[in-house]
Amino acid sequence: MLTSRALMVFLLAGAAQAADVPFEPGKDGWLALFDGSDLSRWRRSKSADWALNGGILAGTKGEIVNYWQWTDFELVALCKGEGEIRFRYSTIPDPAQPGYWLSVADGTLRAEGSRIVAKGSGGKADDWREVRLTASKGAFTVSFDGKQVAEGKDATCPHKGAVSFVAKGEPFEIKLLRARPLNLEKHANVPSPDSACFVCHANFEGEKLAKKHADDKADKLAREEDEEHLRPAKDRPKKFGCAGCHGPCFDHRSDEDNVTVPDVMYTRGEVKAACLACHTPHKTETKRKDGDGPPPPNPICTDCHGRHMCKN
Ligand code: HEC
Ligand code: HEC
Ligand code: HEC
Ligand code: HEC
Repeated sequence: MLTSRALMVFLLAGAAQAADVPFEPGKDGWLALFDGSDLSRWRRSKSADWALNGGILAGTKGEIVNYWQWTDFELVALCKGEGEIRFRYSTIPDPAQPGYWLSVADGTLRAEGSRIVAKGSGGKADDWREVRLTASKGAFTVSFDGKQVAEGKDATCPHKGAVSFVAKGEPFEIKLLRARPLNLEKHANVPSPDSACFVCHANFEGEKLAKKHADDKADKLAREEDEEHLRPAKDRPKKFGCAGCHGPCFDHRSDEDNVTVPDVMYTRGEVKAACLACHTPHKTETKRKDGDGPPPPNPICTDCHGRHMCKN
């Protein structure tokens, strides 16, 4: 028999990726919004006590809200305790919307604070639980550890909005949150020039990491014999420029509200693996290669190379 932990890992793996394959940001649209490595793109409400401790995000009161906003999406969260996942929540006045609240205790889905959209049949769990939510074309489904616990239809908040965690006096803990957009318009899979990104990210025009990998510059510069730093050409993906690492980002860059997620983004915990797709790990260094000042404790590649890092 599977232990609940093994079952959880199994379900999560089945959810986003094949078993044993490390999570790849952007694959099939899946992105990590929280994986224990940093809280970039999250902000706490006033008087909230949410804090990151040993890879676990925990709170007992208040709300912690993610920057990116979603309309139709699928999300997977690993949670423990009691609390709610709020979504399609937006404070942008036109259209301002309170969104929906999903109870991770029984799977009940509410709108406008109290109106029940779908009554959940889940029971309380003492252990970690995989919560999966799908919001697509006005229909919502909720499952716990692979078993559907609620289903409903509603059209009150059809617009994009943020995802947040809400604690209500009881301990609520989160280990992982991944999401992917659904029902996006299909775009031709053409690469984008870096100039399409500089329109808004002008500060990256001179940034070293971006410059080194701009367009097909890196491949032209590649010193194939430099085994200490670079994998052989046949073992490196052929990816160039901003779009090579972040995807062409059509929806992201054509969003006037600047709240649509890029195709590929990386948490702190995902950076090293992304770089090692092309590079080889080098001997331990203690100083930055670019810029000044010492790197932070437990530095990742981008702490020492360029000014490209996640804000905390
Ligand atoms: C219309 C303006 C706009 C355009 C064009 C644009 N972005 Fe962004 N991008 C933003 C905003 C706003 C943010 C969030 C705040 C910030 O980091 O500046 C952002 C954030 C990002 C992030 C960080 C994601 C995260 O949470 O870590 C990545 C990666 C990114 N953009 C990639 C790109 C790429 C690649 C392109 C070009 C293909 C691009 N962007 C074009 C506005 C834009
Ligand atoms: C798609 C492949 C690819 C990925 C992914 C990639 N690189 Fe590179 N990178 C290259 C190539 C090719 C070069 C060319 C220069 C060389 O020989 O090292 C390069 C050059 C560099 C250089 C400059 C080397 C020099 O000689 O000046 C640094 C620093 C660097 N990469 C760091 C990173 C970091 C940090 C990441 C992760 C955020 C990363 N790279 C991801 C392919 C890649
Ligand atoms: C603590 C800071 C630090 C970290 C973390 C770090 N590097 Fe470096 N890296 C350096 C320094 C300093 C050099 C230059 C060493 C030299 O001149 O001999 C260097 C050299 C390189 C080079 C050779 C080209 C160049 O710019 O000189 C590449 C490529 C590179 N690092 C990639 C990476 C990748 C990929 C990672 C993450 C897996 C990483 N580094 C992590 C500090 C760091
Ligand atoms: C070699 C791969 C690579 C390339 C090329 C690259 N990025 Fe990134 N980018 C990353 C990684 C990895 C992160 C994760 C944050 C970090 O560096 O710690 C990131 C983070 C970002 C962020 C979020 C920064 C923050 O403050 O958290 C933005 C915005 C961004 N990239 C935009 C761009 C743009 C625009 C370009 C092209 C000019 C570009 N990137 C090219 C790998 C890359």
